[in-house]
Amino acid sequence: MLGVTGSIAVYKAADLTSRLVKAGYIVDVVMTEAAQEFVQPLTFQALTHRPVVTEMFNLHSEMAVEHIALAERADVLLIAPATANIIAKLRYGFADDMLSCTALATRAPIVIAPAMNNGMYENPVTQENIAVLKERGVTFVGPGEGYLACGTVGRGRLTEIMDIFDAVKIALGRKGDLMGKRIVVTAGGTEEPIDPVRCITNRSSGKMGYALAEAARDRGAEVHLIAGPGSLRTPYGVRFTAVRTANDMFAAVQAATRDCHAVLMAAAVSDYRVAEVAKQKIKKSASSLSLELAKNPDILASLTGDFIKIGFAAESQDLLANAQMKLQAKGLHMIVANDISRAGSGFGGDTNEATLLFPDGRREALPLMTKERLAHIILDRTTDLY
Ligand code: PMT
Repeated sequence: MLGVTGSIAVYKAADLTSRLVKAGYIVDVVMTEAAQEFVQPLTFQALTHRPVVTEMFNLHSEMAVEHIALAERADVLLIAPATANIIAKLRYGFADDMLSCTALATRAPIVIAPAMNNGMYENPVTQENIAVLKERGVTFVGPGEGYLACGTVGRGRLTEIMDIFDAVKIALGRKGDLMGKRIVVTAGGTEEPIDPVRCITNRSSGKMGYALAEAARDRGAEVHLIAGPGSLRTPYGVRFTAVRTANDMFAAVQAATRDCHAVLMAAAVSDYRVAEVAKQKIKKSASSLSLELAKNPDILASLTGDFIKIGFAAESQDLLANAQMKLQAKGLHMIVANDISRAGSGFGGDTNEATLLFPDGRREALPLMTKERLAHIILDRTTDLY
């Protein structure tokens, strides 16, 4: 259920609604009177294909007591944008319109995305209201900082739509099968410097690892994502550590796995680094150039502890034989073998085709699918391993 209150950021709630509907959510929208001053209910009705609730006493409603019915059928109540007024009403339990009544009646998790003038946001009254609601288990996402509609710059903007979207998924994942599990995920390629200008890297975009991190988060896990350089949006609601070299990743993974239930290494780690990094830019005077490479530590192989270790194998030939060798050599509970020479599989794209290999000889060949779908299957197998 989406509660929309009176803020100029209402137009962003329309974008959010569209994304939620496209992702398969059934969205019931409740608009306050003030929200309707900014956008017509018709906008949300057209986006959700469902009637928008605007009045407390609707004689034509099919639901017996509408606010109770709405409150009971919601899996999550998101209020975005949320004004200082609705936040204050929720704190004190006011129930003088449809949204505040429903919020009071619901047992679903409540997520609030505030949007208001920075003075209103920073006012101790609003801060106290937020603190009390947080203590009661309400989730706040944002607000962001920047240019505000009132012409000032400060804290109070409705935060990024995708962060709000993610906060909803996290709230829904509170009963997920990975609740209480701490999972470390690595993603992306590493970068080994040659000189201040150049580096050795690989074609990993990070998409597979990020998909895993988001899927684990959405199933209730506490996720620590350790990622090499890339252009992907840092997922909301996961602990994030940015690394550059294989050695950086080694240190970060060692520290993160001291207290975890599983590690999933989708990162493409450089096996070698330049033995001596040039302090200044190397000039092209010689007709050829040789670089001496030193071996990097094998992160997965070095990890010991009472947690599940899952690796990936990116191969261009002898996929299963090479993956089998890595499964044993690194002491893994499962390895995800992907053939990077196949169209739509491996680096860069949104899809992957993989075979899962287990130490007892079992193999599961999966068809081409989105990295998001594959991430969920890998997590299904991870939960089977617990
Ligand atoms: O990021 P994308 O563009 O979405 O692409 C996804 C992917 C193809 C990178 C991913 O699906 C994948 O296959 N990742 C592993 C790539 C790889 O480096 O595989 P490998 O065969 O070199 O290494 C085997 C395993 O050991 C991996 O889990 C790797 O993270 C780990 N490793 C490797 C080297 C090293 N020094 N330390 C390690 O821990």
